[in-house]
Parts: sequence; C-alpha cells; structure tokens
Amino acid sequence: MRIGWAITGAGHLLKESVNLLVELSKNHKITVFLSQSSEEVLKMYGLYEKVTEVTGGYYKELALDSDQRFSYPISGRFSLGKYDLLIVSPATSNSVAKIVNGISDTLVTNCVAQAGKGGVQTLIVPVDMELGDVHTVLPSKLELGSCADCKECEAAKKCPNGAIIPKTEVNLLKCIGCGECKNSCQYGAISEGKIVTIKMREVDIENSHKLVLIQGIYVLKHPDEIKNHV
Ligand SMILES: Cc1cc2nc3c(=O)[nH]c(=O)nc-3n(C[C@H](O)[C@H](O)[C@H](O)COP(=O)(O)O)c2cc1C
Repeated sequence: MRIGWAITGAGHLLKESVNLLVELSKNHKITVFLSQSSEEVLKMYGLYEKVTEVTGGYYKELALDSDQRFSYPISGRFSLGKYDLLIVSPATSNSVAKIVNGISDTLVTNCVAQAGKGGVQTLIVPVDMELGDVHTVLPSKLELGSCADCKECEAAKKCPNGAIIPKTEVNLLKCIGCGECKNSCQYGAISEGKIVTIKMREVDIENSHKLVLIQGIYVLKHPDEIKNHV
C-alpha cells in the first residue's frame, strides 16, 4: 500500500505510533508528514531519528511543515488519489479542532482536507477520546527536589545540545531525548518518561467525537487498531 502518515505534536500515544510506523514501513511505501510541533516533540522524546530512518525516496519522503510554504503543494497528492490511505496518529486536540471545523492551515490539516477531496480513506487516532483522567508520559525533566546544586552540573556538562539549565529546568526546545543527562546525574535529578495524570477537556472530547461525522474519516482509539485497516 502507499500510505501517508501524519504525526502531530502529541506526546501521548507518540511512541506507540512511531513503533507501528516503523513496523509498517517494512511492507508499505510510507510518506511521513510532520507538523511543526511534532518535529519538536519527536525530538524531546528521542524518537525523531527513528522516523528519519524509515524515510527517504519517492513517496517515502519525510515532509516537514517547516519546509513548506503556505499552499502546501505536497498535500495535493491526496486530492489526486496518489495514496491508498492517510493515517493521522497521534492527533493533537489542536489539529482535531481544526479538522472538525474545516480548517486547513497546516501541513497535516491540509493532508486531511485533500484526502477528503481525493476520496482517500483517513484513519485518525485522537489523543483526547474519553472524559476523565489519562496517564501520559513526560519527556526529560529536572526534578528540583532531587537537585543537589552541584558546583558543576554533570548533566549540563554531558548534554550535547546545551539543553540543561542547572538548578532551573530542561530547555525542551533544545532537548533531543538522548538520555545523557539522566544517566550522568548521580542524584537522579533528571527524570525521563515520568508518568503523569492529566484531565481531558470536554471541548477536546467533543471535537474528537465530531470527527466521525466527516465523510471518509475513521476514528480509532489506539494506534494498534491501525493494523486492522492496512
Ligand atoms: C512535551 C509535549 C507534549 C505534548 N503532548 C500533547 C498531547 O499529548 N496532546 C495534545 O493535544 N497536545 C500536546 N502538546 C501540545 C501540542 O504540541 C501543541 O498544542 C501544538 O501547537 C499542536 O500543534 P499540531 O496540532 O499542529 O501538531 C504537547 C506539547 C509538548 C511540549
């Protein structure tokens, strides 16, 4: 199959989505479309390289929103029916809100709009599906309660990107999720992959449920369900 896989900037279900993308890329031609924030968030979780490794070649490109201009010409491939399937996983509340309101002003939302026009089936995995608490995973974080205020911060010294601001925080926009900081701090002051509980907002859940009303869009609760459609 020729597939377009769009990733938005959600940390939730990101690892699961990337793992499945890697698996499916062995037997399918996949173009990966990244929203601007997904470029950043993939790096924070140390998953960006994994995505670049499965891309390269015609219809296997890594298409970046940050490389595009305002008209998103690459999304025209969908209106021309060049793909068998579009997958959006994970889908942020932001992108879902735009899609259900017919807005297409980013690479990912343009892909969805053009897929609709080209009759390309679209599978979307929104991260906000049910009201209540959800456990989600954080990227690297400086735990100030454990910070020993060392004269020379080993984590900052080891970070290849200068992302650690000693005694303050991890600058996530510089972080590439390599884990060097966590491994070098003997006081365990850097956490990586910490599980936190967040509350789903009603407006986001409502928007996710509105997706099913759009012709050609199928909503899935988890990336694992994608396999049944490929
Ligand atoms: C570490 C991190 C994790 C995030 N996880 C989520 C998430 O799980 N769900 C979500 O809707 N937004 C999440 N965001 C916020 C989105 O990245 C942000 O709303 C962005 O503007 C979405 O843009 P996009 O929809 O074009 O990808 C996260 C941001 C950061 C920094």
